[in-house]
Order: sequence, then structure tokens, then C-alpha cells
Amino acid sequence: MGVSSFLAALLFLTCFVNLYLGVALAKRSGTGVTRHYKFNIRMRNVTRLCETKSILTVNGKFPGPRIIAREGDRVVVKVVNHVSNNITIHWHGIRQLRSGWADGPAYITQCPIQTGQSYVYNFTITGQIGTLWYHAHVSWIRVTLYGPIIILPKRNASYPFVKPYKEVPIIFGEWWKADPEAVINQALQTGAGPNNSDTFTINGLPGPSINCSSKETYRLRVKPNKTYLLRFINAALNDELFFRVANHTFTVVDVDANYVKPFRTDTIFVGPGQTTNVLFKTKSLFSNDKFLMAARPYSTAAAGTFDNSTVIGVLEYDGNTSSSSSNIKALPLPSLPAINATAYVANWTSSLRSLGNSQFPVNVPRTIQRRFFFAVGLGTSPCPVNQTCQGPINGTKFKAGVNNVSFTMPTTALLQAHFFRRSNGVYTTDFPTTPLNQYNYTGTTPNNTMVTNATKVVVLAFNTTVELVLQGTSTLGAENHPLHLHGFDFFVVGQGSGNFNSTADPPKFNLVDPVQRNTVGVPSGGWVAIRFQADNPGVWFMHCHIEIHLTWGLRMAWVVMDGKLANQKLPPPPADLPKC
Ligand code: C2O
Repeated sequence: MGVSSFLAALLFLTCFVNLYLGVALAKRSGTGVTRHYKFNIRMRNVTRLCETKSILTVNGKFPGPRIIAREGDRVVVKVVNHVSNNITIHWHGIRQLRSGWADGPAYITQCPIQTGQSYVYNFTITGQIGTLWYHAHVSWIRVTLYGPIIILPKRNASYPFVKPYKEVPIIFGEWWKADPEAVINQALQTGAGPNNSDTFTINGLPGPSINCSSKETYRLRVKPNKTYLLRFINAALNDELFFRVANHTFTVVDVDANYVKPFRTDTIFVGPGQTTNVLFKTKSLFSNDKFLMAARPYSTAAAGTFDNSTVIGVLEYDGNTSSSSSNIKALPLPSLPAINATAYVANWTSSLRSLGNSQFPVNVPRTIQRRFFFAVGLGTSPCPVNQTCQGPINGTKFKAGVNNVSFTMPTTALLQAHFFRRSNGVYTTDFPTTPLNQYNYTGTTPNNTMVTNATKVVVLAFNTTVELVLQGTSTLGAENHPLHLHGFDFFVVGQGSGNFNSTADPPKFNLVDPVQRNTVGVPSGGWVAIRFQADNPGVWFMHCHIEIHLTWGLRMAWVVMDGKLANQKLPPPPADLPKC
């Protein structure tokens, strides 16, 4: 028997055995397959809003291609930089257990991939099922460099809900006529708030917002009486969004790749960085039934402006042949919550509960070893001499921070500095665990709004249980801050409006079925409390996922030390880790 026929026989035998012992075999081995992808980062001309511009893409696609894997699979992505910009890709929400070198934030876990260079991201998906996404993580490059990560249950496992007929990713984004890199560079120069995007997009399409763009409309074609799984991702740079389909409702089943107790809603709310899976049951309708879908922002911002446009898409029942735009415009728009509907957002957040059954238990830390209180919000820094600035309060520059520290990006990667014990001159470990000056955080803007600029981290011993209260401030206007923690899914144990009360609020925490996620909105003029266990050694970025707040310094990093056991240590970096 030749080698190839032997292999074929072996393959046949394996399949045969699998067929009969499939479940047990899969469980016992506990390992999935390895899925290889190649991401060529290239420029490509794309026409939107009737203008053609050259944008950064993955393999010429916008939005980028889907990554599809099962829980337990290993994903290997070779990213090749064919453009003049520095590139990194972050696998947003992937836990990266002991694979921190593959996390992707520039100058935190790696230096950027330079022109002509490549880097192989290699990670295993553990304990996460649902939707996550990837995006560039350097400057504002992510505006067009993003795509979905679809995580299916293990082979032979199923969803804890009705099997969907089809699954459809729906990604919200922003479209900028200007070059966002130029916009943010100019804003940093002047200290003013940046310009806004021109429109939002659904799967890269802006909809009929101006006359000539109606061909650029996202159409979701469905069959009657079927259940679809819609996978929503908010990839917009700076905006939290409400979304609704006229005459239809959703059942929310999963957020940030964690199952939740199903609940019905007609409007979903999704902040930048967040994902939401919903079951979407179509009606007994046939040809020529069409409904509009629409998304528009939630904002309470007092400082600066925001893109307040509404993006429209179309739900089309099977049989539709015409796609004329005149048709669309006659359809009624679904009514969305008011732009500043903070109560709707609070209600939405408290509707989210972990599924919490025997198969998916809720392992929320009950004994807390370290408690932190972080005040998050806007601030200012002085205008350099011989310059005029256009920021708030008599020509300062806009800043943002955590406990009044605006995090300065290092010029070398923190994870390397940590791993090779060369942190001297790169970062200090004295990040304030509570604000140095306490004040009425949600009251009027204090007299002194200046922040300190520094690269400070918090060091955690391996397996520390952490409780973190994130207190929104009203300094220069209260805003909702979608805080994202890399490397962990945390439990959202409490939230409230106004100032956190350390006596009255903790007894009300939900330690039974708190939702688990990687990005949580710190309520506008309120607080949220999260818990996690530091079981993942590495350096983990935490930041507001509103890109302008991130840029202004609303970011910090946690250094999680190795544990004593061999399987509690971060392995050394891969040989191709980009150099600074
Ligand atoms: Cu989705 Cu650090 O980001």
C-alpha cells in the first residue's frame, strides 16, 4: 500500500470512528482544528457617497473578510503589510490565554508591522461562542480595517436556542470623505475636537442618505417564517448606536461572545467594540414586502459635535425583484430612541444577564483581593507656548484620562519591556488605584481640569480577583464611555447613575447572573462595577472604545504576572514579532 492510499485508508477509518464515537472523541481530545488565514493589507479604490477614494483594506475587501472558527479551534493569521502605514490587527474580545503576543494593540503588545513586513497572529479560541471582530489597532487606521470573527459551537455541540436558518453579520461603521488620519493629526495639533464622519454604514454601505448613494444600500433578503441569527458589530470609530427594523422585533441571545438570558426588544443598543447576537423571526409575508432598518447614535456629549446622521438599510422578503430607490424612500422609517436617551441605555444594560445554566455556569469572583476605583472622563492640558489652541476653557487642548492620568503611548511595546524586564524608562507601576483628589465626579466641572501625562500601569499577581468601579465624570460634559478590557471577559455586577456609593451600592450587586463581556458602557453621569480574575499573564490594554477618547488618553494597562505553574506563564515572543 502506497503512502497516499494508506493515508486515505487512515482518513476513512478516522471518519468512520468519528461517526460512531464523534461526541465522546471530540470531548476527550478537547482540541479543535487549526484554521489558516492570510491578510494582505492593500489600498483599494472604493466609491461611497458618490466619491471614490483609496482606502486600506484586508485582501481588497471592505469590510474585511470573515474569520469563521469553532470554539476550541486555533486561528493562525499571517498579516502582510503592503501599504505605507504602520499596521497591527487586534482580535477584539479574543481572550488570548497565554497568547498575549497575538493581541495586537500597537505599543502595548507589539510594535506595528511596517511596510513590507509581516507578522503571524496565532491564538486559540477558548470558552467563547458568538461574534467578535478584528480591527487595526494603531492610530485611526481601524476606520476601514475591520471584519467579523464568527465563533460557532464545537462540532457536535449546539446553540442553547433554536437552530437558526441562516446567520448574517451586520457591521456598523463610519464613512469619512476626509482622510481620518489627517483629521486626527490636525485635531491633536489644535487641541480641538475632531471633525465627524459623514455618515454611518451597514456592512460598509451608507444607504440612500444622499440622492446618488441609494445604490449603496444594504439589503437583507429573507425568507418568510424563518429564524435568522443576526450578528451585530459596532465598528464605528466614535459613536454608540441604536438600531431598529420597522415592524419587527429581536430576541437577544449573546453579547461579546457570551450567551445571555434571551429577551425581546424592538431596538438594540450597541457601543463601539460591542457585539450583539439576536434571533430575528421573519413574518408570513411574501414578495414585495419591504421594511426599512435604521441606525443612529446615542450621545450626551456637550463637548464638540458628533455625526448625527441616520443610516438606512432595507429588509426585503423573498421574491423582491425591483430594487429601485424611489420605493425605499416611500417606506416608513422605524422610530428610534431620542439621541440622548440615557434611560433607554440604562434599561438595556440591566436587561443583559448571563444565561447561567449548568452547561454555562457563572463563575463570578465572590471574594475580592483588590479593589479599584477609576474616574473616567475628559480633561485638558495646557497649550504649548507660542501656539494657539482651540480646545475647551480658553484655548487649552482636549485630553481624557483615568484618575486624571492621560496615558502616554510608549515608543516600544510594553509587553516586551515587561517580559524582558526592561521596564525602566518605559512605564512606571504607580497607576493611582483611586483618584488622588476626590471630588463630586458627576457635579459641575471642577476648576482644575488638567490631567497628568504618563505611562503608568497596575501590576496584578496571577489569579488576583479584581473589582473595578468605573465612575464617569461630568468634566467638560458627561458622556457614555464604552470601556474595553483586553485579555478578559469581565462580569458587570452593578451600575447606577450619579456617584458610586461604596456603602449603599455593593450590597445591590448582582453576583448571580451578571452579564459577561469585554466592553461595557460607563453610563453618562453614572458608574458601573465589574469583576474579573487575573488568570491571563501578559500586558492588557484597557481603554474607551470611542476612538477620540482613546486618542486623548482614556486608556491604561494592567500587567498580569506569571503564576508559579508552567501553564500559568506567558511563553516567549514569536520570532517574527515586529521590532520597533
Ligand atoms: Cu477593539 Cu483595544 O480594541
